[in-house]
Amino acid sequence: MRTIAHLSDLHFGRIDHEVLEALISDLTMVRPSLVVISGDLVQRARKRHFRAARAFLDRLPAPWLVVPGNHDIPAYNLLARFTMPFRNYRRYITPDLSPFIEDDEIAVLGINTARPLILNFAHGRINHRQIEHIVTAFRDVPARVFKILVTHHPFLPSPDKPSGKILLGRAREALPALETCGIDLLLAGHFHRGFSGKITDHHRHLTRPILAAHASTATSTRLRDEPNGYNLITVAEPSVTFEERVWTGYGFSASECDTYARTPRHHMATPA
Ligand SMILES: [Fe+2]
Ligand SMILES: [Fe+2]
Repeated sequence: MRTIAHLSDLHFGRIDHEVLEALISDLTMVRPSLVVISGDLVQRARKRHFRAARAFLDRLPAPWLVVPGNHDIPAYNLLARFTMPFRNYRRYITPDLSPFIEDDEIAVLGINTARPLILNFAHGRINHRQIEHIVTAFRDVPARVFKILVTHHPFLPSPDKPSGKILLGRAREALPALETCGIDLLLAGHFHRGFSGKITDHHRHLTRPILAAHASTATSTRLRDEPNGYNLITVAEPSVTFEERVWTGYGFSASECDTYARTPRHHMATPA
């Protein structure tokens, strides 16, 4: 069994410090096997924001895997944005923009979807080289191992606009490759709204019901009509459980909980 605390959109620089301390207490109590953070670690890509984010990472009671988000690139310093967009991220967080962790139960790959040069700074994109990298990374991972891909921008529209735009460029083109290499779960953030479900509910042409989970903002005051929260994901073959842990005003506690079962062909089925 593995437990993954899926956090997102920390936005250091726009932090609620009471929530931050409660989050660390909750993670210390939950003791996950791994903490995944799906981007937007900082608000403005400034050194002091990244230093604060790094201090948070150093307090985590578990190994961590992170990917950058659109806020981790300078927005207003155009020289830095266009010439060294990930300089502070690489310096303070990690030089690895495609982190990969594998053991005998889970394999987790992070892919950077933040782009400094696209017209709408907030949107993201996945490129052909990254799609190939995903296929290569998971190609030799055994079928029984639960495979997770982490991006900042989701492969689905916002949960409150199911027919809205997918903000990740080339998402539809990438999905058949993700099916082929047996990915079980997509983790993302960006919308500041918690969600878990099957991507086939939206991408109906796909046959493999890959699961997707979006985490709300764990610590920021940039809320979107829901409290701070994160996803606690338990992978216990053949099932996977999503528990949303939300800020109540005093601490984090369990809110919604869904369980999915894997079929013998290693596809996810409807909630158990
Ligand atoms: Fe964000
Ligand atoms: Fe974002």
